[in-house]
Amino acid sequence: MPIGMKDQTEHFVTCSPGIEPVLHREVRALGFSKVEQQVGGVKFLGSMLDAWKANLELRTAIRVLRRLDRFPCPDEKTLYETVKAIDWSQFLAPDGSFFVDAQCRQSSLDHSQFIAQRTKDAVVDSLRGDDGARPSVAKENADLRIHVHLWKDRCTLSVDTSGDSLHKRGWRKYQGLAPVAETIAAAVVLQSKWDCRAPIVDPFCGSGTLLIEAALIASDTAPGLFRTFGFEKWPGHDAWAWAKVRSDAQARAQMPKKLKLFGRDHEHKHISGAQKNAESIGFSENFDLEVADGLEFPWKKGWGATIVCNMPYGMRVGNPEELDQLHKDFGSSLRTNCSRYDFSILVGTRQFAHLLGFQKWESLPIQNGSLQCRLLTGRL
Ligand SMILES: C[S@@+](CC[C@H](N)C(=O)[O-])C[C@H]1O[C@@H](n2cnc3c(N)ncnc32)[C@H](O)[C@@H]1O
Repeated sequence: MPIGMKDQTEHFVTCSPGIEPVLHREVRALGFSKVEQQVGGVKFLGSMLDAWKANLELRTAIRVLRRLDRFPCPDEKTLYETVKAIDWSQFLAPDGSFFVDAQCRQSSLDHSQFIAQRTKDAVVDSLRGDDGARPSVAKENADLRIHVHLWKDRCTLSVDTSGDSLHKRGWRKYQGLAPVAETIAAAVVLQSKWDCRAPIVDPFCGSGTLLIEAALIASDTAPGLFRTFGFEKWPGHDAWAWAKVRSDAQARAQMPKKLKLFGRDHEHKHISGAQKNAESIGFSENFDLEVADGLEFPWKKGWGATIVCNMPYGMRVGNPEELDQLHKDFGSSLRTNCSRYDFSILVGTRQFAHLLGFQKWESLPIQNGSLQCRLLTGRL
């Protein structure tokens, strides 16, 4: 039976650790009910239509998980029987492919691979047809991802409505050396005080991720318009209703005509890649991208621009000995030339934050892949 579009179900939206407050504001802005910030994400109660909108609209989300059940799970038999009793035909065709992501902590079932295996067995047994057709397991490009989470012998079973991680927006044509994830780039912009009208500058723009996410925000372009989602593969998916939700979102996107987004990088290949990325979202005329030293950016007095960037960190980009000096020089240039500009700057360490030498800033710790970074925001 296809999934009921109006059934109210609990959803959990995951994000990079540290970004929860930004995601929480985003989810609340969508008007969902019972929104609650938790560690690693935000919970809400909503319909399938709400799950569609969450995937399409949330800029800092990584996945939208739809909860199917939560139950006491002291042993393998309970896990198998409860999973098998679910009507999996709502989510997966009998010959489709799926993947189970299992996690466990402080539970009697304490082997995540075994939990994943028994969950797989139960799903296959539940869907096995009289003709012998059965779903297969695939790690890449599976039609369905199932999440099993055991904590203190309580099991939460969810389906992933997103499919690929939501940081994969679909606009990226050029990767570069160390692009910041699109979801984190969006958080950097959303955490700034930018009014979406003032010029915005990334002096170390690399592949342009921050500026492109800024352009999507300023133009009210839904970040999910360039990709597809897991729920589109579910049997009984209402493609007509979904096309309407997408086209409504598409229709409202409009770039403020005079907005300028300035990006600089000293490497030619990054600037030409950033240009390609800007073209792929369709607003490249608003971008001013140049190969240049970010420290030499021609700031104007009283310009009131917003500065966004993620500084080279050393682990992936830049020579560690030069990085201290780069942070000192950048901070000094901003303090001299950018009075009353807003900034939102992702730095690698607390020491780098201090080397910038700003008088006042707010700091949000953010996990950026394997790096623990800090997002510094404030006004010069
Ligand atoms: C951490 S990466 C930025 C990644 C970027 N946010 C993205 O998503 O692709 C830092 C960038 O700073 C550039 N860079 C380092 N020193 C620079 C300088 N003095 N002037 C301009 N660019 C510089 C590097 O080439 C690199 O692309």
